[in-house]
Amino acid sequence: MEKVITPTLLSNDSVEIVEVAPRDGFQSIREPIGTLQKVNLIDALVDAGCQRIEAGSFVSPKAVPQMADMAQVSSGISRLPGIGYMVLVPNHRGIELALENGFREFGYVFSVSESHNQNNVRRWVAESLDDLGGLVDRLKSVSEPCRLRVNLATSFDCPFEGRQPLEKVLELVSAVQQLIPDAEIALCDTTGRANPRQVGELFRHAMSASPRAETTWAYHGHDTFGLGVANALAAYHSGVRVFDSAAAGLGGCPFAPGATGNTATEDLVFAFEECGIQTGIDLQRMLGIADKVAAIPGAYVSSHLRHVPRDRAIPMDQ
Ligand code: COA
Ligand code: ZN
Repeated sequence: MEKVITPTLLSNDSVEIVEVAPRDGFQSIREPIGTLQKVNLIDALVDAGCQRIEAGSFVSPKAVPQMADMAQVSSGISRLPGIGYMVLVPNHRGIELALENGFREFGYVFSVSESHNQNNVRRWVAESLDDLGGLVDRLKSVSEPCRLRVNLATSFDCPFEGRQPLEKVLELVSAVQQLIPDAEIALCDTTGRANPRQVGELFRHAMSASPRAETTWAYHGHDTFGLGVANALAAYHSGVRVFDSAAAGLGGCPFAPGATGNTATEDLVFAFEECGIQTGIDLQRMLGIADKVAAIPGAYVSSHLRHVPRDRAIPMDQ
């Protein structure tokens, strides 16, 4: 008799989920969130098994008032060994502040499209690339090991210019790879307008354009059109193993009109675990966190799994 092979036996693969609610999620909420609440969320995410967390951003408090208390958040969080606490930085000032506040893992953001880059960080794309070169040099002078990720916003779609040509993205990817051969590069669907075919194709092209590169690929998705999980799975099937998502699907870039929340972490964890792909995250705990996040005044959330009875929100083979 033919043996039935479950998905778990077919795949003992794992993925790394980067929880971005404390940054991409919180920045979309106008009402000030208490520092302690931010700290508690970050610590709770670690308890739930998150190994990497985007803890916030060092950006102009005029641009994103919600991040004005980053210094206090930085000194409040537990900083457990082995956990990657990443912060978003848009410029030199951001990296200096992040270093001063004890961070060694940075997400540098710029956009594929000029108009979003102007709107978001007030720079031309070429200027942002120049700045990146300077940041790489700066980090070489730091005695402890640092990790720099590059977030390429609007890699698929721009809220002002629409769909972005693949060639333009590949050109920027190549420029980043020349500056940082072993970078983590996150191709970001800032608006949530990408589709699985586009996501799969872009990653396959990017990977095959640089087969010997030491790049780590990451996918950052939003769920505006309900394709967040499908897009992440398409990225997975193209070879991506690092995924950004936010508890409860919180989020929405204030600089990308029309974009709603990030793909929900609980939905992504469920989808991966259901396919036998390990995330290391405790789904029930993550659901508890997602409920708390959803209850924050002013939070815009959209996720599926929170609406399923808890005793049914369990992957089949657990
Ligand atoms: N952190 C904190 N303050 C910063 C800063 C940083 N990284 N960079 C600049 N500032 C401060 C400056 O000190 C200056 O303060 P002052 O007005 O009190 O003198 C003010 O912000 C303006 O500085 P400037 O260099 O002229 O910046 P800008 O007005 O051209 O804005 C950015 C550029 C990048 C600082 C701003 O657009 C920004 O923070 N964008 C972040 C957007 C974001 O978080 N997007 C998230 C979606 S990916
Ligand atoms: Zn985002």
